[in-house]
Amino acid sequence: MLAVVNCSQLVTLRGAARPRVGAEMRELSIVEGGAMLVGRDGRIAAVGARDEIERLIVAGDCEVLDAGGRVCLPGFVDAHAHPVFAGTRAGEFEQRAAGATYQEIAEAGGGIRASVRATRAATEDELVAASKRYALWFLRGGTTTVEAKSGYGLSVEDELKMLRAVRRLDAETPLQYVPTFLGAHEVPDEYRARRADYVELVIQEMLPRVAAERLAEFCDVFCEGRVFDVDESRRILLAARAAGLGLRLHADQLSLSGGARLAAELGAATADHLEHTDAVGIAALRSAGVQPVLLPGSVYALGSTRYPAAREMIEAGLAVVLATDFNPGSSPTPSMPLVLSLASTHMRMTPAEGITAATVNAAYSLGRGDDVGTLEVGKRADFCLHDCADYRELAYFFGVEHAHAVYVGGRLAFRRGA
Ligand code: NIG
Ligand code: FE
Repeated sequence: MLAVVNCSQLVTLRGAARPRVGAEMRELSIVEGGAMLVGRDGRIAAVGARDEIERLIVAGDCEVLDAGGRVCLPGFVDAHAHPVFAGTRAGEFEQRAAGATYQEIAEAGGGIRASVRATRAATEDELVAASKRYALWFLRGGTTTVEAKSGYGLSVEDELKMLRAVRRLDAETPLQYVPTFLGAHEVPDEYRARRADYVELVIQEMLPRVAAERLAEFCDVFCEGRVFDVDESRRILLAARAAGLGLRLHADQLSLSGGARLAAELGAATADHLEHTDAVGIAALRSAGVQPVLLPGSVYALGSTRYPAAREMIEAGLAVVLATDFNPGSSPTPSMPLVLSLASTHMRMTPAEGITAATVNAAYSLGRGDDVGTLEVGKRADFCLHDCADYRELAYFFGVEHAHAVYVGGRLAFRRGA
């Protein structure tokens, strides 16, 4: 067994077995001076005040971890990421610094299609090796679960290769990956003149293979005028649902393209981005119970100032999620603490709301709410000791590596300096 003692704040997020909405998002259920016991099965066995937990320690049978007066938080759950790709786009980053826009670069054949060319040229082994670098970055930031989208293959075999790489990363690293099929991320070079055929390829060939090999839990579509319009997105997502996949959508990122309304119509698990979503879209998400996944890292990294309307969404009672959107183009950051900072400075979310959005709400959006996202008895002991005594510092000091030690299933996954 493992006993974690001497936490300045044990941030449990204990509560009802559902995502948090409205004022609940500010309620972190903190145990000051708290402690926690982890069973041999890697699950949380007890949570409480230090003396209560110390009474449960069986001498000789329990490792004691002294948190040193640090904050203990559930591992972050990053519910929107593209963490598997070959190559980088540092060259495009430089072009954007010189004035080119993300959309101009994409229209000239760069952007997602540049990462597709590099990813197609890589073997599965090379892809796994490249992506392990990023797995370590996620862990170092205190993230223990990450969603992983395909979408840089865009052919049957290359999409399957990506999803097999995700499966291997899940087995070979301490990070837990939740796979999402994103064959409809972009129209690949060889289908530019016959895009309808590409939609058919996704529906008739990719989806059945992904489902048959059980390579994904969700299906996502980049719903945007110049990529996949609402009708194409609907057809793909209906086919995905019929194949047994949950639904997520890149919605209203670059324009008000109707993505949020489509997510509501289909009862998707999430609608992601939402930088351009209007009040009608927010109301539709609310009536359909769709969780918004907000990605301020991509707004920042694209040099935009148009952040999603988080306050309005919280006031409307939506179970808001925050995620990194880690990818080689629009959001090259794996850092949830940076996302918390951006959410507070640009979206007026309090640090507590940010932490709720980055843990328990994110876990529910991935169908993992009964397993991770809070520090409660029975949940997997995925937690992080952060180098501060007050949880608000996680959002307040930015550009700082806060994570001191990260545990997954009760086992050490990362320790600073080790
Ligand atoms: O979430 N919007 C589309 N997809 C990604 C960008 C991926 C890329 O640029 O490689 C996003 O921002
Ligand atoms: Fe994305």
